[in-house]
Amino acid sequence: MAYTPITLPVIPADPEIEKKVSETLSRMTLEEKIGQMTQLQLDLLGEVGPGGRFRIVPAKLDTIFGIYKVGSILNAPYSYCLDAKAWNEIIPQIQEASMKHIGIPCIYGLDQNHGTTYTNGGILFPQNLNVAASFDTELCRKAAEITAYETRASDCPWTFSPTLDLDRNPAWPRFWENYGEDPLVNALMGVAAVKGFQGDDPNHVDRNHIAVSLKHFMGYGAPLSGKDRTPAYISPSDLREKHFAPYLEAIKYGALSVMVNSSSINGTPVHADPILLTKWLKEDLQWDGLIVTDWADINNLYIREKVAKDKKDAIRIAINAGIDMAMEPYKTDYCEILKELVDEGGIPMSRIDDAAARALRLKYRLGLFEHPNTLLKDYPEFASEKHRKAALDAAAETMVLLKNDDNILPLRRGTKLLVTGPTACSMRSLNGGWSYTWQGHLSDSYAKDYNTILEALTNTFGADMVKYVPTVSFNQEGSFQDETVADFAEAVKAAAEADVIVACIGENSYCETPGNISDLYLSANQRDMVKRLAATGKPIVLVINEGRPRILADIEPLAKGIVDIIIPGNFGGDALALLLAGQKNFSAKLPFTYPREINSLVTYDYKVSEEVGKMEGVYDYDARVNVQWPFGYGKSYTTFAYSNLSVDKKEFGPSDMLTVSVDITNTGSIDGKEAVLLFSSDHVASIVPDNKRLRAFSKLALMPGETRAVKFHVPASDLAFVNAAGHWTLEEGDFTLSVGNLSVPVRCTTTYTWDRPNI
Ligand code: BGC
Repeated sequence: MAYTPITLPVIPADPEIEKKVSETLSRMTLEEKIGQMTQLQLDLLGEVGPGGRFRIVPAKLDTIFGIYKVGSILNAPYSYCLDAKAWNEIIPQIQEASMKHIGIPCIYGLDQNHGTTYTNGGILFPQNLNVAASFDTELCRKAAEITAYETRASDCPWTFSPTLDLDRNPAWPRFWENYGEDPLVNALMGVAAVKGFQGDDPNHVDRNHIAVSLKHFMGYGAPLSGKDRTPAYISPSDLREKHFAPYLEAIKYGALSVMVNSSSINGTPVHADPILLTKWLKEDLQWDGLIVTDWADINNLYIREKVAKDKKDAIRIAINAGIDMAMEPYKTDYCEILKELVDEGGIPMSRIDDAAARALRLKYRLGLFEHPNTLLKDYPEFASEKHRKAALDAAAETMVLLKNDDNILPLRRGTKLLVTGPTACSMRSLNGGWSYTWQGHLSDSYAKDYNTILEALTNTFGADMVKYVPTVSFNQEGSFQDETVADFAEAVKAAAEADVIVACIGENSYCETPGNISDLYLSANQRDMVKRLAATGKPIVLVINEGRPRILADIEPLAKGIVDIIIPGNFGGDALALLLAGQKNFSAKLPFTYPREINSLVTYDYKVSEEVGKMEGVYDYDARVNVQWPFGYGKSYTTFAYSNLSVDKKEFGPSDMLTVSVDITNTGSIDGKEAVLLFSSDHVASIVPDNKRLRAFSKLALMPGETRAVKFHVPASDLAFVNAAGHWTLEEGDFTLSVGNLSVPVRCTTTYTWDRPNI
């Protein structure tokens, strides 16, 4: 993946579409072109009507489309969630006004981030971090395909998804929105999501598919402070080699738009960076897609980042850096100021033409000129049984079994359970943010027909076998971190009657900045609760329901079984019950490193010098990596043995293909699925080598006793890295390839540096 030759342009232009784009553009006034570069928030088109419901105000439509010629609208009301029928009433009015006043369809955009976030009644899948834990790209494609279908049923053709930021800081409140810490997992899941959302032809996205907006380009997941929208400091090599990789692969697959990282990298806000926006994306890849800002981020160039002196300066910097559309989102003065800037020569007309053409091209590619609307009645599979089943199966594939001492799991029929903890009865925790509302704070009412963990366990094990006693609970008002603590005495008493304690711990829902934390440890209340229950001597199964790995080193030894369900969506309770009852088997693995020590937050591809330890005859550096669970860790109810690892070439050059094969056997007594991960390690390199890097993965199902061979084809160029001069290079020397507990040595015979530095 690191260096596959690229055919340029990445999305081949369709001559017919290009002709229409130029003809339309040639008829447009400057004001109309600026309108295409503007995206406003739905609120500006209406008012809150009876029952607190949003309704369109026709005079507002006339202003926004008649005067400002605005090209795009986004978002949903904050305080409640519209259903597909309501979207089918709102968006057609918007389209009608847009066609009447401008003759160009409006493009509506929604964050349908793990299923239909903003369409009540649609299907919510597990969050992306779960999807990554499945190590199954087909699961990812399918979830995106269903989401696209249900989003079209809501009359919306564009989503601000998938999110491909590398999770490099576990405190970051957006950790769960991405596919984990690794570039390859994010890249392959990103490609699968693009396939699912857009289909296979980016020039002709049909009416069952929608356009993606990859976000948040790029480096957003590495804030030094761990707080949202704070600066990242990323080496040029890492930026090119790791953070860019998922965007590059998804764009090569035809991603039609990109949203920009709200923050800064090495001091430059990405919204103001012509190198990343214009050079890397538009010039080097000859990519003709659309770049949209994140929420109010042009304004943030002067309000927060202080690289512009006022709004006008900020608009000039951002548009000249390569921004095509401003998610303004509240004010129309952006349109007026942008016009002034063009009239005064601060922004060249060629930039405006390019940006407006990109917006028009996206609309033509989506077929919006021919069919501005798609209606619910044409989508009979909306929220169908088939879609529900896909979400349930997905949830079960994404829960990670981390500990199973003495085979405490699966729980045998007739086991008396004490269920407790703040996530036991919470649809908010199961769904996380981007669920019905931005913060996911209303999930307990919108998702009341789905089962919480407690309800699902009760259904599966029987009401007489399951007792619930509250201990720690989340407060539903105030910060997501607020908890109420009951006297633990009642739970301790109930434990005496139980065979096993199922302690459901983790986090309440949150999203973005409101999810900032200043302590990565799981809350003290919850850890105390586990300690008190452990003192009863009854075995504990911990169910971790959280969006980022909260440190629990002090309570981990107290549990016999541990399952990390991450944020599995509406079917999470049911999926967990099936797994705990042994009606399904675990098959997920951690797509991130679970930390153990607060001051040793590393990713699995840490530099080799992080882990020196004791060396014979040498000063003991005592550098060590001590994590709770490593990247790729996850157990099953069955066991797998790896054998016969081989590689077809012991020595290779830069243009060779390495074929690695390994046999996997299900050595247990039940069906199981195994995610097989191939890593490489470079022994010596001109910059300190990474400990190891994931190069390929594949998931396979095996019956008891069955053996299957897995073959990976890895281009030798994938073992290249970006050197100190910013060039992709493959250096002569020794490497180790490893799968499971097996490894083979291989050797690169020549050093080769590619002369295209950028891609
Ligand atoms: C988030 C984006 C989102 C946008 C529109 C921003 O606050 O950072 O991820 O797409 O809002 O809702």
